[in-house]
Amino acid sequence: MSQLTCRRADFALPRDEHYLNCAYMGPLPRVAEEAGIAAIRRKSVPTRIVPPDAFWETDRLRELFARLVGVDDPTRIAIQPGVSYGVATAARNLSVGAGDNVVITHEQFPGNVYSWRRMAGDAGAELRAVGPGDGSDVGGGRGRRWNERLLEAVDARTAIVAVPVVHWTDGTWFDLDALAARCRDVGAALVVDATQSVGALAFDVAKVRPDALIVAAYKWLLGPYSLSLAYYGPRFDDGDPLEETWIAREKSSDFQNLVDYQDEYVGGAIRYDVAERSNFFLAPIAAASLELLNEWGPHRIQEYCRRLTREFLDEAGELGYTVEDEAWRGAHLFGLRMPASVDLTALRDALTARNVSASLRGTALRLSPNVYNDETDMGVLLDVLKGAVR
Ligand SMILES: Cc1ncc(COP(=O)(O)O)c(C=O)c1O
Repeated sequence: MSQLTCRRADFALPRDEHYLNCAYMGPLPRVAEEAGIAAIRRKSVPTRIVPPDAFWETDRLRELFARLVGVDDPTRIAIQPGVSYGVATAARNLSVGAGDNVVITHEQFPGNVYSWRRMAGDAGAELRAVGPGDGSDVGGGRGRRWNERLLEAVDARTAIVAVPVVHWTDGTWFDLDALAARCRDVGAALVVDATQSVGALAFDVAKVRPDALIVAAYKWLLGPYSLSLAYYGPRFDDGDPLEETWIAREKSSDFQNLVDYQDEYVGGAIRYDVAERSNFFLAPIAAASLELLNEWGPHRIQEYCRRLTREFLDEAGELGYTVEDEAWRGAHLFGLRMPASVDLTALRDALTARNVSASLRGTALRLSPNVYNDETDMGVLLDVLKGAVR
């Protein structure tokens, strides 16, 4: 497949905005914005929304997401309102006993922490937050060591491993192939929050075989807020949803006979859908963005980000900024550590003055480019970084 070229024209970002903050929020592509406006208009005349639409639109959403993450059966995808909900669903259907442990990463995003904290606390189990180890600055094997420590933390008493693919603060990449194999060895469940990777970094469920994969739509899926998509594998068949939605019951599309109450859920992971999952506003927006992502391909998006940032990182390196080794971080999300001479407040002001959007996290600048960024964006950022070094 050919290389991806810059897709800025597919977005409405003003030319003088240097938006390097997709890890905070992804911009809507123009087609998704149009789909959203059309969706709102439709609701003004309710006869335009006929019952089967409610099912077909969500079917399409499941199909598009399933294709993006390598899932054959779209009924294994649930439609939910956020990562915390998807993680709580997983937690509700897993068990942990006294003396067991749940493994997470250090400073993990809270949406994939609180359910496990409660569960481990209630059961008298240990919540093991694994960090990169002492004295390890970026580069020099920090990412590799963090991965090694994570594998070592999974032992015979591990009931659940709940991790991201890349760390939300600095993009450190976790080798989930190796971690999934380790989980299978000890019988632990693997729950992945891939919000900061899926969309810009390929993930193949058929290959990695996690038990659950949960992704919020508003970042790298370039979709709306208040929507997440989740894959649940066979371990979750026959589980209990957080809510007893009527729409996830057998025969729910038969509006004439809804009070012919059904004990059975429809198959796969659909039972884990949120109430009112057929969101007429959000579903068309998310679907339009997913169509684009499938067309562009996560491999090619990742490769685009790598090409875009390579020279920039070489030059920033000459100025004294450091970054994780390429093999152990995302090309779409990484933290730039400052030379000691950089004043963080002055740097923040200089970024704002030049319309560069990125997140300062502690002593690192989190950069998260995507296909709408180009050399102009990287050049302006480099100028700011040059000016910040005294
Ligand atoms: C790694 C990660 N997971 C999840 C979320 C969002 O979680 P929720 O959908 O529960 O608000 C974020 C938001 O920053 C995130 O960075």
